[in-house]
Amino acid sequence: MPGTDPSPMAVGSKRVQWFSFLSVMLLGCCALCASSPGSSGSKRGPTIINTNKTTDAELDKTLTLNCTAEFVKRKLRIQLIYWLVNGTFVEDQYPDGRVTEGKAQEIKSKTDTTVTLRKTLHFKSVKETDCELTFICVAQDPSGLDKKEIRLRKISSSTQDEKAEKVAADTAEKFHGQ
Ligand SMILES: *[C@@H]1O[C@H](CO)[C@@H](O)[C@H](O)[C@H]1NC(C)=O
Ligand SMILES: *[C@@H]1O[C@H](CO)[C@@H](O)[C@H](O)[C@H]1NC(C)=O
Ligand SMILES: *[C@@H]1O[C@H](CO)[C@@H](O)[C@H](O)[C@H]1NC(C)=O
Repeated sequence: MPGTDPSPMAVGSKRVQWFSFLSVMLLGCCALCASSPGSSGSKRGPTIINTNKTTDAELDKTLTLNCTAEFVKRKLRIQLIYWLVNGTFVEDQYPDGRVTEGKAQEIKSKTDTTVTLRKTLHFKSVKETDCELTFICVAQDPSGLDKKEIRLRKISSSTQDEKAEKVAADTAEKFHGQ
């Protein structure tokens, strides 16, 4: 961290400033692209794939939400993928670090014209209050933006094992289907 002030607030607001700057840059790029049709190949913005509106969560357990987005490959690699919680940054909503974002990870794309990035949101321990929040994954590049909202659905521990088995089976099925 380049800042000398160690307080989280200062770091947070710096990040917000930097972020606003980047958003403005992106918007500027969008405007440029829109006003000069034909200057770049495809104008398709990113697409968030494989997300459900709700995710089952067991209280006091860990949980990882995954956001995966496909971006059209471009020379200029400005690709953002991030999480928001009720419209604010994760570290502002959870200054205690109970919920944190992972690093953006590049995963193998189906085609070589796209770039696929994944970002996780990790809960050290799910609390009741988390179920009232909306977790929003945002994928953004100069040609557009996609957003998906996810909410947590509290489940009781007795049904957990059954659920885990079902999820494992579904996932296995998905992999075979690909
Ligand atoms: C979305 O929900 C379906 C049906 O409940 C499930 O099979 C699938 O694994 C879920 N996908 C994700 C990414 O959680
Ligand atoms: C997200 O991915 C991780 C690792 O692949 C997996 O363990 C976890 O269950 C996934 N989360 C959801 C909500 O599907
Ligand atoms: C988050 O948003 C929901 C509905 O939009 C609201 O009911 C809730 O109070 C908000 N929570 C926080 C912590 O901002």
